[in-house]
Amino acid sequence: MSSMIVENLVSGYGQMEVLHNLSLEIEEGQIASVLGPNGAGKTTLLRSIFGLLKPWEGRVIYQDEDITGYTPDKLVRMGICYVPQEENIFPQLTVKENLEMGAFIRTDDINPRMEEVFDLFPDLHSRTKSHAGELSGGMRQMLAIGRALMLNPSTLMLDEPSTGLAPFLVDNIFERVHNLNQTGVTILLVEQNAGKVLPFSDKAYILEGGEKKAEGVGKELLADEEIGKLYLGR
Ligand SMILES: Nc1ncnc2c1ncn2[C@@H]1O[C@H](COP(=O)(O)OP(=O)(O)O)[C@@H](O)[C@H]1O
Ligand SMILES: [Mg+2]
Repeated sequence: MSSMIVENLVSGYGQMEVLHNLSLEIEEGQIASVLGPNGAGKTTLLRSIFGLLKPWEGRVIYQDEDITGYTPDKLVRMGICYVPQEENIFPQLTVKENLEMGAFIRTDDINPRMEEVFDLFPDLHSRTKSHAGELSGGMRQMLAIGRALMLNPSTLMLDEPSTGLAPFLVDNIFERVHNLNQTGVTILLVEQNAGKVLPFSDKAYILEGGEKKAEGVGKELLADEEIGKLYLGR
């Protein structure tokens, strides 16, 4: 079953069209990746899905409901969460306070959920009282993801979680993303790092100049010589 379908999406800023008739589909429980160089339109795609940018044309369907143009607030309540590439934590607040902020719309006991987030990211557990601004880049990314998880989303959209991380941390963060998916969360992952992401992507899309250039099972795209030469810098 599809979790989300993006249908013939056209979107941009002012007069500038960035996404040209883009379509993609994310199956429930899977990891779908959108890969492409800087400026390809990846962030524009996530912002258009998440109601931060109004699509010019096309539709976004989530669990059979047309959610095109819904506000972030409404989408969060429907189970879609988004971790932006930057400014995704509150540096002046502690780790615990950041997680509490993540749960802002919940009125029930959030402690059990916080424990689950600590199970996924044990490093955060020992730093609950640290200010988020003092954390390393890798820990900040985990906190940003942890914050989004406080709402127990069914679909999580991640914008380049490996940005600025040392290579060994990049592997680590992708492993966590993969683990998270195995707990049942559907993931839309936006990345430049195709070589690292394709091996575990159930479905991947290559985006360039706001257009879909290729799509397929991650491992198959990875093995495709033509794709490798044209889009993966081989
Ligand atoms: N706020 C904005 N205003 C105007 N143009 C923008 C804005 N954000 C991005 N763009 C332009 O849209 C295009 C796609 O950008 P973006 O979606 O950020 O790409 P990516 O995330 O793949 O690096 C680029 O040409 C970029 O310069
Ligand atoms: Mg971007």
